[in-house]
Amino acid sequence: MKKILVTGACGQLGSELSSALAEQYGLENILISDISQPERHLSKFNFSRLDVLNHQAVDQLIREQKIEVVYHLAAMLSASGESRPRNAWTLNMDGLINVLEASRDNQVDRVFWPSSIAAFGSHTQSTDTPQYTIMDPETVYGISKLSGELWCQYFYDRFKLDVRSLRYPGLISYKSPPGGGTTDYAVSIFHSAVKKEVFECFLHQDTKLPMMYISDAIRATIELMAAPRENITVHTSYNLSAFSITPRELTEAIQLHYPSFSSIYKPDFRDLIAKTWPHNLDDSSARKDWNWRHQFELPQVVEVMIRNLNV
Ligand SMILES: NC(=O)c1ccc[n+]([C@@H]2O[C@H](COP(=O)([O-])OP(=O)(O)OC[C@H]3O[C@@H](n4cnc5c(N)ncnc54)[C@H](O)[C@@H]3O)[C@@H](O)[C@H]2O)c1
Repeated sequence: MKKILVTGACGQLGSELSSALAEQYGLENILISDISQPERHLSKFNFSRLDVLNHQAVDQLIREQKIEVVYHLAAMLSASGESRPRNAWTLNMDGLINVLEASRDNQVDRVFWPSSIAAFGSHTQSTDTPQYTIMDPETVYGISKLSGELWCQYFYDRFKLDVRSLRYPGLISYKSPPGGGTTDYAVSIFHSAVKKEVFECFLHQDTKLPMMYISDAIRATIELMAAPRENITVHTSYNLSAFSITPRELTEAIQLHYPSFSSIYKPDFRDLIAKTWPHNLDDSSARKDWNWRHQFELPQVVEVMIRNLNV
């Protein structure tokens, strides 16, 4: 079994991906790392505190632990990045390049790094956004994701490092809180609903964004990483799609469970960011190359979120 390192493992995606990897590949083969201490639910894992901005520490950990596969998740998300653009750029870029270099220098077999729908921009075709199209992101987060995609391709072309990537839509999960992204409302809304509170939404009611339930995102990640090398034709980042919703549609879907639930809309800077992102993506390359199929549609996501947040 290959030894796997997860960076940024204490975040929304990392904590659930680490558990899925442990189930699939064995707990003893997973080393989780983060700059923060893990919460109690991650205490079963081997943990190493790692700042991905420390190049030497990244290199040393990969070398000494004989890591063969890396899932590099440490990053600053879109909304947080706009309040600290320089820090977001440094973390998202230097962190990635440190991981790519250490992986190359220590003969790591495979690296996963997530991109995002934020890599697109206001001149991108917003409906059925093609795999290859105009990309003019307007946030520092989006700029770092687009640049990161090109770095991944560069390391693949120049050093034959097997780096794989997905352009995640907004991720909806109940186990871990979201980390400061523009799609966070689609998680917070459920917390308000189960507490029987009115939800104050930072997006306009009709702002449509692609979303995905976290289990689908995790399965996509594990399936992409398990696909034969010769099947991978996209070396920047694969478009990945499930369903698209507006805050109004999500509110209405929740009202089927809580008829008196309501949202009020106070769009802020995050609505301006969201308006530059696609409504839905053409992910046919992922479907063709490694047989990607999403499972969760909106009604199932609403059902599973409410059921689990209510316990
Ligand atoms: N959550 C989403 O909706 C979404 C959508 C698209 C892409 N992504 C991408 O998925 C990845 C994970 O996102 P997430 O939602 O889990 O983010 P998150 O903010 O929840 O978690 C990020 C983690 O990185 C850690 N971190 C911060 N600085 C670090 C450093 N210097 N060294 C090591 N760790 C550090 C944080 O402590 C945190 O635990 C990111 O690359 C993000 O861009 C997420």
